[in-house]
Amino acid sequence: MAKYRVRFLPMDKVVEVDTAAPSPGHDGEPGSLLRIALANGIELDHACGGVCACSTCHVIVREGGESLPRAEDDEEDQLDNARGLTLHSRLACQAVPRGDRDLVVEIPQWNRNLSKEGPH
Ligand code: FES
Repeated sequence: MAKYRVRFLPMDKVVEVDTAAPSPGHDGEPGSLLRIALANGIELDHACGGVCACSTCHVIVREGGESLPRAEDDEEDQLDNARGLTLHSRLACQAVPRGDRDLVVEIPQWNRNLSKEGPH
């Protein structure tokens, strides 16, 4: 059993995750950053429902990325379509932290609350 923290930016919300008690929900892989975010009231777009078929759950892992397994080919393929891609980009629905260290995860502005903000 291990506990680690994920700090979501830019809202600067820190959530504690217990690897023995995965976040509830069914969007994204069990234990994924998407499930962690949604279970803690953090809005993160996920148009395909977390099945690695879009790139709307794109996040940038600012710290702690070494605690994530390498992206599979499917994730890399979807990320190629992500806006604002960086070397630290991941799909939140596919990225499942091992829980051996804390993370800092930035949700790009365009992936937050899209349906409520509407077009700009
Ligand atoms: S929600 Fe579609 S790829 Fe993550």
